[in-house]
Amino acid sequence: MKAGGQPLPQAGLGAGQIDAGDADLGKSQFPRPLPDLRNELTAADHHQREIVGSAPAPALETRSLSWASEEDTQRFAAALARQPGLRDAFLTLYGDLGAGKTTLVRHLLRALGVAGRIKSPTYAVVEPHRAPDGLDIWHFDFYRFDDPREWEDAGFRDIFASPGLKIAEWPDKAAAVLPPADVAICLHANDDASRRVALSAHTPRGAALLRALPSSSLSENP
Ligand SMILES: Nc1ncnc2c1ncn2[C@@H]1O[C@H](COP(=O)(O)OP(=O)(O)O)[C@@H](O)[C@H]1O
Ligand SMILES: [Mg+2]
Repeated sequence: MKAGGQPLPQAGLGAGQIDAGDADLGKSQFPRPLPDLRNELTAADHHQREIVGSAPAPALETRSLSWASEEDTQRFAAALARQPGLRDAFLTLYGDLGAGKTTLVRHLLRALGVAGRIKSPTYAVVEPHRAPDGLDIWHFDFYRFDDPREWEDAGFRDIFASPGLKIAEWPDKAAAVLPPADVAICLHANDDASRRVALSAHTPRGAALLRALPSSSLSENP
């Protein structure tokens, strides 16, 4: 039987479910009304929410993109790989199965110089890589992660405390233990090879990273 404390990701986070009726405690404790964050979401936040299916934390910086094909995905990965700010960053990747999360990571790893076979970490939860310049990269896939004790036992906490790039697919499955992402990348597959993409920065490092990306790599939505 499961311990009762683990929050179910996405449950109850849908649009319109932030219920003011739950604010009784707030009424007695806070002199001013609590801000309604729904009004502070930007267009890209809404785009992200549509893609992710849950309300994201308000972002410091956002970009809303569309990629016509995997070539655009690769071009974006290459531009990201050139950013010095990427080296100690934590990126999260949202999107349904087949949205292109692993594909984006593969292009990013290749652009960083990682050679050889790049396995998907679905079964292992994490695949470590090292770029030729010594950069450590950890590629997580939390799809099968359901026991927060594994966070300690498997040494994931130590990984997040060390330098290097961390990338996580299905971060919502480990939301209770993960630190905030520098940049969250939300992918939505259209019926063809095109993708709608929402980027949101949740830390100053992530915001600087987004600002540093050349607009030519972004294929921004009109
Ligand atoms: N623009 C695109 N970006 C990323 N992947 C794409 C794109 N167009 C087609 N694909 C294909 O879609 C599939 C995405 O699979 P994958 O990356 O494993 O998805 P996920 O990790 O999100 O489950 C791959 O077969 C990839 O070649
Ligand atoms: Mg994947």
